[in-house]
Amino acid sequence: MFLCCWLVLGALIPLTLSTDPGVKVKLTAKGLEYGTDSTDEGHLGIQNLCQIFRGIRGKGPFLRIIKNSGSFDLSVSDLTVGTSIAVESDETGRPAVNTVDCAATVGSANIKFHGGASWLYNLFRKFIDKAIRRALERQICPLVTNAISDLNPQLKTLNVLAKVDKHAEIEYSMVSSPAVTASSLELGLKGEFYNIGKKQEPPFSAAAFNLPPQADSMLYIGLSAFTANSAAFVYSAAGALSLYVTDDMVPPASPFRLNTNTFGVFIPQIAQRFLGLTMKLLVKTVKPPVVTFEPNNTMVKASGTVTAYAIHPNSTLSPLFVLNLVAASAMDLTVGTSYVGEFQVGLLNSIFRMVLRAVVIPVLNVQLAKGYPLPAIGKMQLVNTQLQVLKDYMLIGTDVQFNSIHGASRG
Ligand SMILES: *[C@@H]1O[C@H](CO)[C@@H](O)[C@H](O)[C@H]1NC(C)=O
Ligand SMILES: *[C@@H]1O[C@H](CO)[C@@H](O)[C@H](O)[C@H]1NC(C)=O
Repeated sequence: MFLCCWLVLGALIPLTLSTDPGVKVKLTAKGLEYGTDSTDEGHLGIQNLCQIFRGIRGKGPFLRIIKNSGSFDLSVSDLTVGTSIAVESDETGRPAVNTVDCAATVGSANIKFHGGASWLYNLFRKFIDKAIRRALERQICPLVTNAISDLNPQLKTLNVLAKVDKHAEIEYSMVSSPAVTASSLELGLKGEFYNIGKKQEPPFSAAAFNLPPQADSMLYIGLSAFTANSAAFVYSAAGALSLYVTDDMVPPASPFRLNTNTFGVFIPQIAQRFLGLTMKLLVKTVKPPVVTFEPNNTMVKASGTVTAYAIHPNSTLSPLFVLNLVAASAMDLTVGTSYVGEFQVGLLNSIFRMVLRAVVIPVLNVQLAKGYPLPAIGKMQLVNTQLQVLKDYMLIGTDVQFNSIHGASRG
């Protein structure tokens, strides 16, 4: 008996790049063995490989070559295939694999003939066993090599550049040597957001991080704080981190309305000069927010401004004041510019806390809930997905299912 996972993913050709990856992807033994026990044809080459092995294994009505005059059972045991697979980056930054070295040994092949002239053949069994063993050994490496290179068309479908939305795309090219062990294959990908069409680098770079040794899922994807911060940099540069808050966004149950009556209570000039008008607020960041991941906790530190406008019946806006806002675990407001005389910002704190909690955060959550594309191969579906926030990165553990890439082919 033997198992496919005896396959040794060995030597590799290191890349010369030295950038730390923003995203790491680890395929575990469970992932490498994907589908080996199912009857579906595999779409990962590793799996095809296992089917080749399964074909060799077993007793052999499929090897009934002596027609009508008998049959034989073939059993092969102690098959070991040692193969070294080089994982390299192709010209597009996608991984490419090839076999650099392969050796197959068949410990023993036993053949037993039944019926017909089997008594005669059985006399020569020892010689036949040996011939079969040698023949199998010669056949296995070419099969392995083909199966490994069959992986490449699938790796070519890795989405190296994935569009996120109208502002951003994310790059997943390989930036570091894959770490290959007997039980896992780990890829270091760039995981960096860019403005569509512009490749501007942020003033910070990725820091090294290590995926935990967990192996219950088929696939682990670690998204670093660098990836999140490159997104913040891109959206900030695109001017996308701004939001108009209007009165209809304020929950109906709120005691505060976004109008000059509410603000006039705290700032008398507003009541005098802009009586009975609705207002709107422009909340925007002044520099990219900074995201940090701590165990079970995602923190965002943002600084920005809140500009308040009165809306005249003819739709003209009059600016009332600009507040500077620093938000981390607490929110800090100071007056930047006032067009309505001096006032105490502390009085407005509860209003802005409500606006932040009831309007801005829900809007952000809706944006975040839209998600963003993960590195994916072909028509890969994630199942049993779990998310953990760890120190400096977010870990997604998931199983995968492949929808047929080759149509309905079956083996
Ligand atoms: C994070 O949350 C999980 C699940 O609630 C818990 O098991 C784990 O101990 C927490 N980790 C830390 C560092 O608080
Ligand atoms: C709109 O109304 C305001 C206040 O009545 C006035 O000051 C402003 O000139 C008007 N703007 C236009 C374009 O009519």
